[in-house]
Amino acid sequence: MEIIRDIEKMQSRAEKTRQGGKRIALVPTMGALHEGHLALMDYGREKANLLVVSIFVNPIQFGPKEDFEKYPRDLQKDSRLTEKRGVDLIFSPEIKAFYPEFFQTYVTVEKVTQNLCGASRPGHFRGVTTVVCKLFNIVKPHLAIFGQKDFQQLIAIQQMVEDLHMDVEVVGRPTIREDDGLAMSSRNVFLSPEERISARSLFQAMQEGQSLFRMGERKTEVLLNRVRGLIMEQPFTRIDYAKICHPRTLEEVKVVEGRGVLALAVWVGATRLIDNCLLEDKGQ
Ligand code: PAJ
Repeated sequence: MEIIRDIEKMQSRAEKTRQGGKRIALVPTMGALHEGHLALMDYGREKANLLVVSIFVNPIQFGPKEDFEKYPRDLQKDSRLTEKRGVDLIFSPEIKAFYPEFFQTYVTVEKVTQNLCGASRPGHFRGVTTVVCKLFNIVKPHLAIFGQKDFQQLIAIQQMVEDLHMDVEVVGRPTIREDDGLAMSSRNVFLSPEERISARSLFQAMQEGQSLFRMGERKTEVLLNRVRGLIMEQPFTRIDYAKICHPRTLEEVKVVEGRGVLALAVWVGATRLIDNCLLEDKGQ
């Protein structure tokens, strides 16, 4: 497995691969890889000849008071993990080359980024869509794979690709969880053992929401009261948001018609966790 840091080298490798009639799959990540990331790679391995994983902790998607500095980084461990999963190439650019001093072009997806994490983290999605657009221009993938765990991110990227006619197929894959249901996340390492127990309540509350929904409850207020209650009864938890939205527009709904997405962002101690699930008649 090869590691490329140089942007032009990556571009010419991608160009040659395309000219040779081969398919490129890209899994964009910020590293600190876990089974959630690795499952995206397994999917990409099946679908492409050249499987590229980008590892880049993207400064412009972190707010000034967020955890950019302390975000976990371990390229050596990550490269062992990716090699085992059959990844061909890691693309890990230097920040200064990726965002030179005179950098000034951003991609903003307007509507679907307003609610949920967009409201709590101003500028976050602008940073995400900008870095992903740049990665697409450098790695030139036919296929790019993202997790449904970051549901709003996936929707924003799909919207960008559609609006800007980008020639990339975007695939969203299911959330991989720990045995007790906690969604895998690079930030889970920040949880103390006591906080880790409280963190289970996100999944438990979503399951309760789904089960009320399947029993016929369609009123958002009723569903969310139960969800919020279960999370708030745990120590260390503070709800940033708990909302039910239309799965494409991400606007809040009062009554779920057809399908809805139940989206959560919860502080557990000093760590902000997000999770979501679909509410639909046949369940997930
Ligand atoms: P990161 O948090 O490293 O996640 C990389 C990819 O892994 C994302 O598509 C994310 O949705 C997916 N992922 C994370 N946890 C998952 C889980 N438990 N199950 C399935 N997939 C999971 O998301 C980012 O990085 C960045 O915003 C990025 C897109 C790389 C842009 O900087």
